Amino acid sequence: MARFDDKVCLITGGASGIGAETARRYAGEGGRAVIGDVDEERGSALADEIGSGAAFVRIDVSDPASCAAGIAFTTETFGRLDGLVNSAIRMGPGALVELTLDDWKKVVDSGLTGTFLMTQAAGRWWMDQGAQGAVVNLSSTGGLQPYNLAGAYSTTKAGVIMLSKQFGLEWARHGIRVNTVCPGHTETPLTAYMRDPAVKQARADVTPLNRVGQPDDIAEGILYLLSDEASYVTSSELVIDGGMSTSLFNHMPGRKWD
Ligand SMILES: NC(=O)c1ccc[n+]([C@@H]2O[C@H](COP(=O)([O-])OP(=O)(O)OC[C@H]3O[C@@H](n4cnc5c(N)ncnc54)[C@H](O)[C@@H]3O)[C@@H](O)[C@H]2O)c1
Repeated sequence: MARFDDKVCLITGGASGIGAETARRYAGEGGRAVIGDVDEERGSALADEIGSGAAFVRIDVSDPASCAAGIAFTTETFGRLDGLVNSAIRMGPGALVELTLDDWKKVVDSGLTGTFLMTQAAGRWWMDQGAQGAVVNLSSTGGLQPYNLAGAYSTTKAGVIMLSKQFGLEWARHGIRVNTVCPGHTETPLTAYMRDPAVKQARADVTPLNRVGQPDDIAEGILYLLSDEASYVTSSELVIDGGMSTSLFNHMPGRKWD
């Protein structure tokens, strides 16, 4: 018996990167993965690649009606909903002093408001049905530390951590768990600059576990939090970053104990 046999998970941002790898692996472990994304071409192609264990639905997570329709599509297509992964993001980098409202909103609407709307829509369905579920929201080590010049990214990702904790507490008595994963630098289309071998090596050099992350590393943590193995874990965050965000003292010149 596989871990996600008969289970159904909706993954926003599922057409690319971490979301796409999560969809592949969820279906690979017996589940049905619904890929929700604004990128219809890549989302449909991935659903075709995975086969009968997957379906694509266009969802714009910044639009409440689209979020509700995405949940309805999932439950009508596969008859149930067990998990939700919020991975969608748009970037709008820039120094705060000159950041446009459009660039601010692009990130907040997709990353924070989208996570709120999707989680709320899933929770409403679970509560209506008297069913239990698990949500995994993608934050970032950039939600634990300020990612300067990345515009609203760190504010959004810090918000995702707190939002998830609050949902987790409000829904614990319903048996609905809500947790966060904080990846460090991970090689995806979002971080295409890491394809430059010199950049990749330099990043590996400053990472305690000596490499940059792969989507699979992050999907592993997401699947754990979705699974029954994490049945006692809620309102929590899992950092998957090769030790990067706790390695401040590695970078202190003149340490006495090297
Ligand atoms: N890659 C990294 O290094 C890294 C590090 C830390 C955190 N993260 C987080 O992990 C998550 C996934 O990142 P990734 O690297 O896989 O990104 P990605 O760019 O590869 O994928 C993001 C997906 O989100 C979709 N999307 C954008 N706006 C949307 C919207 N409004 N509605 C629905 N879908 C939308 C895009 O079409 C895309 O398919 C993000 O939340 C990101 O912030 C990534």
